[in-house]
Amino acid sequence: MTDQLTIVKHPLIQHKLTLMRDRSTQTSVFRQLLREIGKLLAFEITRSLPMTTRRIETPIGEMTAPVIDGPKLALVSILRAGNGLLDGILELIPSARVGFVGLYRNEETLEPVQYYFKVPDDLGSRLVIALDPMLATGNSAVVAVERLKRAGARNVRFMCLLAAPEGVGRMTEAHPDVPIVTAALDDHLDERGYIVPGLGDAGDRMFGTK
Ligand code: URA
Repeated sequence: MTDQLTIVKHPLIQHKLTLMRDRSTQTSVFRQLLREIGKLLAFEITRSLPMTTRRIETPIGEMTAPVIDGPKLALVSILRAGNGLLDGILELIPSARVGFVGLYRNEETLEPVQYYFKVPDDLGSRLVIALDPMLATGNSAVVAVERLKRAGARNVRFMCLLAAPEGVGRMTEAHPDVPIVTAALDDHLDERGYIVPGLGDAGDRMFGTK
């Protein structure tokens, strides 16, 4: 696969993902696991954040200490399932700015239609991390990133929990500049666009809807 894709194979992530996939895992546990994996994936996706230094005083003496450089990063949840990843990352990076992109699928054209778009200002100067647990067909992810770029974003990364080869292909073709970080690359999509073996509908499992 493309080197645009990073699969984070850390044992904690893989173990938690297996629990999430299991159909007998209940809603509250599913949501908690997604929050925890979001936090762990955030570790990977922020690995190359630019650093600078600051002079500080410890109780013992002075030192030049490392701090993250640049403006606060922007986390953008692709509604509604993106919110599950968002919660975990915000626990790790509480000062991040947050945006939301809402898209639904027109059942006739099958094209994503935007119904909500609210993002932090100055997108062009921030690292923007777009969030959606499932990169399936890639249709909504590709459109969401397109809208973010139209709003000024120049440095975008995409975080998901599970990816299908079809979605990765669509994303790398449409946005070759956007690194993708995921916990697993599954086998294929079924005829309804679900990831196989996947975990079912992430939004339904997270919010207890059907
Ligand atoms: N969205 C989901 O929630 N699950 C899939 O398998 C594919 C898209």
